[in-house]
Amino acid sequence: MPSASLPPFRFRLDRVPPGPGPAFRRLAQALEGEIRACRAPSGTRLPSVRDLAEGLKVHPSTVRAAYNLLETQGKVVSQVGRGTFVKDTPRRRPRLHFPPTVERALNLASLTGSLEDVPRDGLDLFTLTPAPPSSSLASFQACLEGVLREEGEALLSYLGPVGHEKLRAQVARMVSRGERAVDPSEILITSGAQQALELAIQCFAGPGEAVVTPCPTYLNLMGTLEAQGVRLLPVPFQGEELDLWALEKALQDPSARLLYLMPTFQNPTGITVDRKTRLELLDLARRTGIPILEDDLEGELLFEGDLPPSLFSLDREGRVILAGSVSKAFFPGLRVGWLAAPPEAMSRLSALKRFKDLETAGLLQAALAAYLEGGGLSRHLEELREDLKARRDLLVDSLAKYMPDGTRWTLPGGGTSLWLELPPGVDGRDVAAAARRKGVLVAPGDLFFPNRRQTPNLRLSFARARLEKIEEGIALLASLVEERIPTSLPGGGKAPVL
Ligand SMILES: Cc1ncc(COP(=O)(O)O)c(C=O)c1O
Repeated sequence: MPSASLPPFRFRLDRVPPGPGPAFRRLAQALEGEIRACRAPSGTRLPSVRDLAEGLKVHPSTVRAAYNLLETQGKVVSQVGRGTFVKDTPRRRPRLHFPPTVERALNLASLTGSLEDVPRDGLDLFTLTPAPPSSSLASFQACLEGVLREEGEALLSYLGPVGHEKLRAQVARMVSRGERAVDPSEILITSGAQQALELAIQCFAGPGEAVVTPCPTYLNLMGTLEAQGVRLLPVPFQGEELDLWALEKALQDPSARLLYLMPTFQNPTGITVDRKTRLELLDLARRTGIPILEDDLEGELLFEGDLPPSLFSLDREGRVILAGSVSKAFFPGLRVGWLAAPPEAMSRLSALKRFKDLETAGLLQAALAAYLEGGGLSRHLEELREDLKARRDLLVDSLAKYMPDGTRWTLPGGGTSLWLELPPGVDGRDVAAAARRKGVLVAPGDLFFPNRRQTPNLRLSFARARLEKIEEGIALLASLVEERIPTSLPGGGKAPVL
């Protein structure tokens, strides 16, 4: 308790207020004032009883009574033969203040964080990112070393906010998907698709304004909007279809500024919008004057059938901004993504990117460009698509075999997840919690709605699900669903939605 480093405490005798009340109380008050004002910080040795009594010209019992009072109040401690010392008092620090937008973002983040831990030996139907083949790590390492050797100095300097030229050219090729030649000048490199979304939202919607999106929707979109103080105007899907009429109505809201869509392998449902509907969406953007933010994160993961062209490549009027990244197809930890945008938006997006984080790490951009140029990603994607299809097939077969009547699911021809609709009356959150306790990790459907209302849905991802665990895990999930079906269930029928 006593601290050798503290200067001796000199008590100014005139600090004891004159006036009514017993002298020992007034002395105790004066000493307490010194402690509070940090003139006698914790560890300080108070004057001895005799010295203080002499200085104050009072009887020593007055000083002793004051010290006793302070001791009973927990302010000082007396040690026999050593003296009286100011006690450690937990200092009350002023609380930090955070705006409500940040508090709401914190709530949303803690909600998912707690759901992501994969039980060892369990079945992971939650994680959306496929594991990259181990061979791709070695080829990427070679690219990294190559670019570092050849242009290391330049790559470790600032490159500018729009990104590395070679990577912009490679991304432009990927985004074209054979539809129309996208020019590298239409590409802005970002730190993951997440930053691409954030920049695009910030570019069009300010605090208090709104983004319209079909719901259920990408979970982190909700947090991104919260953090920017932007509102979400949700529009429910109509079964497997977008409700264009309801979307148009929502876009007429005076606060609506942007329409966020995932037309290809939507997260969480896996739904893909057909070409006709894509053209109708572009028409909707033209009529309402509201631009579209197209999240194309899983467009490369087609393993069955054909994909309609992206909205970006169909757009002839400069109303679509596309966001993408290599997170699903390659290494998410690279944090490399992009925006494809018409020139009018591009200049503003690159200004925002500059003020957000200056630029995305040049070394990683160059290494990725070299990897793409060498055809590494195409080889890797072939393997990945096959792998995803095998998992999806087994998942769907197991659902058909075990799920009780009244359960329905989507059948995506690519991507990483499907959407399960449980029999009426069964709560997805309840099933997900019970499954988690038994080592099967699934995402409860309510996570993907802004109001987190109870829903009879689960998102099942097949990105990481171990093949040898799928059937057993789905049988277990099915038994949990079955146990929760209310006894008087109307109708039903086991059938995939598609
Ligand atoms: C639909 C969607 N958009 C964007 C992202 C963010 O991706 P990235 O890792 O590239 O930032 C994710 C991540 O899972 C996603 O699912």
